[in-house]
Amino acid sequence: MAIVSSKAGHGEFLPSMAQRNTRLVDPAPSKDELCLPRDDGLRPKLLADYIGQNDLKQVLGIAVKAAIGRGDCLDHVLFYGPPGLGKTTMALVLAEEMGVKCRITSAPALERPRDIVGLLLNLQPRELLFIDEIHRLTRVAEELLYPAMEDRRLDITVGRGSTARIRVLDLPPFTLIGATTRAGALSSPLRDRFGLVQRLEFYGLDDLQAIVARAAGLLGLTLNEEACLEIARRCRGTPRIANRLLRRVRDVATVCSKSNCIDASLVDEALTLHRVDEKGLDASDRRLLELLVKSHGGGPAGLETLAAALGEDAATLEAVVEPFLLQIGFLQRTPRGRVVTQAGRTHLGATHL
Ligand code: ADE
Repeated sequence: MAIVSSKAGHGEFLPSMAQRNTRLVDPAPSKDELCLPRDDGLRPKLLADYIGQNDLKQVLGIAVKAAIGRGDCLDHVLFYGPPGLGKTTMALVLAEEMGVKCRITSAPALERPRDIVGLLLNLQPRELLFIDEIHRLTRVAEELLYPAMEDRRLDITVGRGSTARIRVLDLPPFTLIGATTRAGALSSPLRDRFGLVQRLEFYGLDDLQAIVARAAGLLGLTLNEEACLEIARRCRGTPRIANRLLRRVRDVATVCSKSNCIDASLVDEALTLHRVDEKGLDASDRRLLELLVKSHGGGPAGLETLAAALGEDAATLEAVVEPFLLQIGFLQRTPRGRVVTQAGRTHLGATHL
């Protein structure tokens, strides 16, 4: 197997397909592997462990202290922003700081009214209820939430037709944490019921480097500073991607490296193998930019047109792929459609993956 590498390589350690006629790896896990923390082990547990998002941490830290001081629950919080920036993690951190449980669900799992009714009725005082993709709630679920959020009251319709009656049930004090990648898709009555509406930002290089170093420590890996920085540069400003890339680097290090310390050249080799370029763009990003350049002269082209040509869902393209390309200035949204910038064109021309 040819390993794609732009720098001095560890690729020679990978066996070629011709040489390989045995299992790549004995599937029985070693004792050490069984002791590794699970994926969730990388999440920070407390605000003090949470790296980055300083303004957000300050606002939430004050809200937590004030709520605890009053013996009250936290006000309802809406987190919005691109995926992978830590919305779920922050909800779990808030629960930990408040000393309560966090029940986690997502709007598509709340299709029937009884789903949300069941969740609300089972909440213990001051607990957190985290609803991911909250912009996808059904109208009925939303309307059940309004009095629940405002007056801790659940209005349930019992019976049908002329015998239908409304039964009012009291709820314990609770906090709803909503998360969405599409704040604009939330109805304003729902958005207005959140006391705190907070955007999560892409992370800066220093914070990402620290997040990678922390995760490496938890995974029992030794990475030098440049290796952490290289992952930080290539993770699209997103901790979830940083941790995913770190695991891919670990795979290559496990199989290919003779040294205990992972350096930047090994990181480059592993990430190039996974077609993650020096700016962190992956195959989906490059396909979008290339489509715009090759089929639309660089744009403008409409989101729906691009999504259809790529076989992607337009909402996913808009919420997942585009934000980082906009952030690094490779793409622009104009009233007439998407346009690749000169920086985007230059990057495409210089990258051969
Ligand atoms: N792992 C993922 N996100 C993190 C963060 N913001 N701080 C520390 N570790 C993380």
